[in-house]
Amino acid sequence: MYFSYKINYHLMSLHHATLHQLRIFNTLARHMSVARTARVMHLTPPAISIQVKQLAEAVGQPLMEQVGKQLYLTETGKIVAAACRDIFDRLELLSQDLAAVEGLRKGCLRLAALTTAQYFIPRMLSAFSEEYPELDVALFVGNREAILDRLSRNEDDLYILGQPPDSSRILAEPFAPNPLVAIACPDHPLVGRRRVTPKRLAKESFIAREHGSGTRLACESFFARHGVALNVRLELGSNEAVKQSVAAGLGVSIVSRSAVQAELSSGEIALLDVAGLPLERQWYVVRPEKKVQTAAARAFQSFLLQADTG
Ligand code: PGA
Repeated sequence: MYFSYKINYHLMSLHHATLHQLRIFNTLARHMSVARTARVMHLTPPAISIQVKQLAEAVGQPLMEQVGKQLYLTETGKIVAAACRDIFDRLELLSQDLAAVEGLRKGCLRLAALTTAQYFIPRMLSAFSEEYPELDVALFVGNREAILDRLSRNEDDLYILGQPPDSSRILAEPFAPNPLVAIACPDHPLVGRRRVTPKRLAKESFIAREHGSGTRLACESFFARHGVALNVRLELGSNEAVKQSVAAGLGVSIVSRSAVQAELSSGEIALLDVAGLPLERQWYVVRPEKKVQTAAARAFQSFLLQADTG
């Protein structure tokens, strides 16, 4: 009974403690000197003593004791000092969270995505922008080489790649499948044939992306793994040009399925059944390990990781 009376008394009286008093006591408990605390807080030593005395009254017990010239925390003082550290750490986190929310509302998101990712990234950006309408978004689109170049110069917040670079200084998270498939025009003789070998495919005129493209790199290593050389008839700088040429019957190609989704559905382009394909790859969201992530970048990254890119 007596115990609960004491606790209630403390709770009631603690309501009279102010944040200002707790801040002063927190600083005093760190420096253990009234003069130093006064200097740090731009107050006078008597002002410090008065505030600490009022806090002790609110707590109901002494917080400090002086032996000779040395100040010590009492047992109660140690408990209050530990609580002060928690309170001010939490307040610091709160101000960081508030700044992050503000940054997210009004900030800017700088993205660099592969040309091949342009078939789904704008759709995702539009859904993301509905949640954060005031956020400015800058999207750079280029091939793998261009994106890696920007990554090395730390130009953007996030990078969308089909294969992250081999470096320990980046963080890469897969967020969606990115299969590479073989395509031809619908009346191509290989359409409908089962398990065409890579060797047989390599005999066809091949329409390849430019050097520096991730798709090109993946195609070359696919054929190299099967011990055949690519017979490149046409080298083109974009997925659009590759698709048009394949649809026109100029040759076959291997592209990311996301780049030809629409043409496969409309029947302008057909899939080839090739042994070893599709090449199961992933889309990655990449950033330099040491880069401090903006609130906008953090939000877009978690948006990507949860999104349905299909
Ligand atoms: P690319 O990359 O657009 O540079 O060809 C695509 C990929 O790596 O999947």
